Amino acid sequence: MREQRLYIWCIRHSLDPTGYPYLCAEAYNPDEEEDDMESRVIHPKTDDQRNRLQEACKDILLFKNLDPEQMSQVLDAMFEKLIEGGEHVIDQGDDGDNFYVIDRGTYDIYVKCDGVGRCVGTYDNRGSFGELALMYNTPRAATIIATSPGAVWGLDRLTFRRIIVKNNAKKRRMYENFIESLPFLKSLEVSERLKVVDVIGTKVYSDGEQIIAQGDMADCFFIVESGEVRITMKRKSKQDAEENGAVEIARCFRGQYFGELALVTNKPRAASAFALGTVKCLVMDVQAFERLLGPCMEIMKRNIANYEEQLVALFGTNMDIADPSA
Ligand code: CMP
Ligand code: CMP
Repeated sequence: MREQRLYIWCIRHSLDPTGYPYLCAEAYNPDEEEDDMESRVIHPKTDDQRNRLQEACKDILLFKNLDPEQMSQVLDAMFEKLIEGGEHVIDQGDDGDNFYVIDRGTYDIYVKCDGVGRCVGTYDNRGSFGELALMYNTPRAATIIATSPGAVWGLDRLTFRRIIVKNNAKKRRMYENFIESLPFLKSLEVSERLKVVDVIGTKVYSDGEQIIAQGDMADCFFIVESGEVRITMKRKSKQDAEENGAVEIARCFRGQYFGELALVTNKPRAASAFALGTVKCLVMDVQAFERLLGPCMEIMKRNIANYEEQLVALFGTNMDIADPSA
């Protein structure tokens, strides 16, 4: 019995320093694990690689809540992988080995439904994928196929779990109650709301800083955690915009969301958003938005009708914000 226990201990510790329960049923508690210096992975990099890596990781939401020491360990552990056009970077159903941050290249996301793969989205020279299998110890949930030659930065499963999953436990403690209190997420199950917490990153904006620019392509969604956000809109024609400038159309406060419209309609940003004073937002990327917030879409779509009414009152037109042909 003692020998068997020792064997289990060895396997746990040699395979996974976060203590992920491979062979035993005890609950996983990342906070109980010591930071094990021996498990640090370092892939040496040239200056050019380090610069490209830093640039690629700058907006990765899963890295946003890491402290500088954790971030430097993540950057040390990442390795470059060149990708050929047509290559399957991940296959649905496989075990998870690495998390990937895109350095360059375009990638399609396929999810099998009744045995048939359907393209549910794309990555265009930025973003990250491959976190789900590592976070929840599940098989890969999608297939990722390169549609051009490219490169990604890999982060091994052990380092991902030791740092990111541990950090997520902290994030859950910080944001669980806040996320629980948001009326527009009421249609989500508790477990789905926790998954929202796992993928969000926090961003802080200073007074006057632009958060969204009207006309830009959209890749994320925002929930105000603190502060006040001013939404402004320019009229459609350039001449009108120059004559009239931007008009304030709304304000968003703690618990309110913005930046969903472009993701729902697949159109450029309909309006701009600016911080009024210091603003802290929870931010979710478009892939997580589509994967996790489907059940909340009805509420969001109903809100678009309110936007349109508001715009008719202000401008005499709904500005075609929800019209796919406009
Ligand atoms: P993982 O399941 O580890 O491997 C496939 C990855 O595809 C997954 O993590 C996500 O990072 C990414 N992905 C993007 N869109 C989806 C989606 N709609 N469903 C599942 N995975 C997705
Ligand atoms: P999006 O178009 O992605 O980016 C700008 C955001 O402003 C938009 O999503 C909405 O979330 C928000 N917004 C608030 N009021 C309005 C409105 N009346 N019309 C359009 N967008 C609005």
